[in-house]
Amino acid sequence: MLSKKILMCAAVLLITATVGTAAVAEPTSETITANVGNIGLNIAPDEMNAKVGNIELNVKHEKMTTDMGNGESKLTPKELLGELIFFDANLSEPKGQACEDCHGKDVGWSGPNEASNVLRGGVYHGANVSRFGNRKPPTIAYSTFAPNFRLDNATTGAFVGGEFWDGRATGKIRGTAAADQATAPFLNPLEMNNPDGDAVVNKVCTSSYADLFKQVWGSNACGDKNKAFDYIAFSIVAFEASKEVTPFTSKYDAYLDGKVKLTRKEMKGLKLFKGKAICDECHIADPGPDGQHPLFTNFIYGDPGTPRNPQNPFYNETEFNPLGAAYIDPGLAGHIQNDPKLLKYQRINYGKFRVPTLRNIDKRPNETFVKRYMHNGFFSSIEDVVHFYNTRDVLPVCGFSGSVVGKNCWPLPEVALNANPKVGNLGLTDEEEEDIVAFLKTLSDGFIPPK
Ligand code: HEC
Ligand code: HEC
Repeated sequence: MLSKKILMCAAVLLITATVGTAAVAEPTSETITANVGNIGLNIAPDEMNAKVGNIELNVKHEKMTTDMGNGESKLTPKELLGELIFFDANLSEPKGQACEDCHGKDVGWSGPNEASNVLRGGVYHGANVSRFGNRKPPTIAYSTFAPNFRLDNATTGAFVGGEFWDGRATGKIRGTAAADQATAPFLNPLEMNNPDGDAVVNKVCTSSYADLFKQVWGSNACGDKNKAFDYIAFSIVAFEASKEVTPFTSKYDAYLDGKVKLTRKEMKGLKLFKGKAICDECHIADPGPDGQHPLFTNFIYGDPGTPRNPQNPFYNETEFNPLGAAYIDPGLAGHIQNDPKLLKYQRINYGKFRVPTLRNIDKRPNETFVKRYMHNGFFSSIEDVVHFYNTRDVLPVCGFSGSVVGKNCWPLPEVALNANPKVGNLGLTDEEEEDIVAFLKTLSDGFIPPK
């Protein structure tokens, strides 16, 4: 029964796994590194230090944050091009949805629609508004550091890297996981819903920024549609890796640079994060050997025992979810089942998801704005997440009369098989939980250190 379910779920997941075909080598000049533990990093954003020059950019992407006054930008032309693509709502079918609609800057580049966050577990509809995805949009910030997907240990079946919650953007097609990911949303029928890459290329090549596209990628850039689709991917990756999206400007970064002190409470939280609460085992908090600032993920796969989120609209998605309410998200197991060599690792990876970064988890446009956490958005506050890690195995299972989720009980994990036994009973006091939350709030970008 279990494997049958996995197989059916995979049919759904497969839809989202399509990416472009032609591989083009992306020229790079500088490798940015950050600390992810012992994992090799492979993304090297190109730094072209040219100015945009006098290209007429006739675009009004209201929420774009780059100042293009005088035709100059703090971003390189390629990064700016990526930003224009990222914010372009003409690139969906029908028009109206941009990448930015599910990855908003003032929410730390995660889901910006509060109604979806409150009512639908942070799971979003596509350009076709009656279709819903199955997972919560993670942040795109710091995502380009994800190493390519690979089997890390053939004995334990541990995998590392890749993009998406299940790592299915592997890096096998365009060389980096980020580049493989970048065009998938355009073609996903539950997201931007284009029929194929050519359709996207046609839109970019007739857009108001088509000249910039040719300036960055060559006057012939639109000639070969497969290559052009790759160029679109590389442009988006450049934007994602740029200082606009991935700036390392949190209070914690300033603290690591000796520019600010953490409060007593934040310090206590940091100590617990790395000690008693063992968060740091997966969400790396220490700088690397050469002082690289940490990413708060080691890109491995795990299952903290996240419960099923009944608010997930995917359960009612009749067209793409034949299982309806019986749907179980297989996580990594759903991804690796496409490779016969990896089938034997399915069971051990059933219900596991890639450890997300914790950078910007508290970044929100205002204090009352609701964000969602975990692949299915089960939690709506950081406090609840920490309380869950602390008491998952202490509180009884919900369902008895008078039970209130998170107060006197927790639901069972969606997939109990691989729920990590090391977390769930951390023995933290209420005050220690608060300390950890205080520390997690130092991870939001945009902190300005005192002079
Ligand atoms: C309809 C909402 C929606 C739109 C539009 C959308 N995304 Fe996403 N994005 C998601 C969801 C949901 C996921 C997680 C999907 C999964 O893991 O299966 C995701 C995952 C990602 C990730 C993976 C991050 C990581 O750490 O693995 C990146 C990067 C990303 N999106 C970039 C983009 C780009 C670039 C575009 C536009 C071309 C885009 N997204 C459009 C919802 C959206
Ligand atoms: C054994 C590895 C591991 C440990 C230890 C761990 N986490 Fe996680 N964490 C994960 C994984 C895997 C996920 C994603 C699970 C999912 O989506 O269902 C996650 C998700 C999260 C999220 C949600 C982020 C988002 O963008 O949705 C938060 C917040 C978080 N962890 C905080 C913590 C804190 C705080 C601790 C310590 C109390 C901790 N984690 C310990 C592996 C771990």
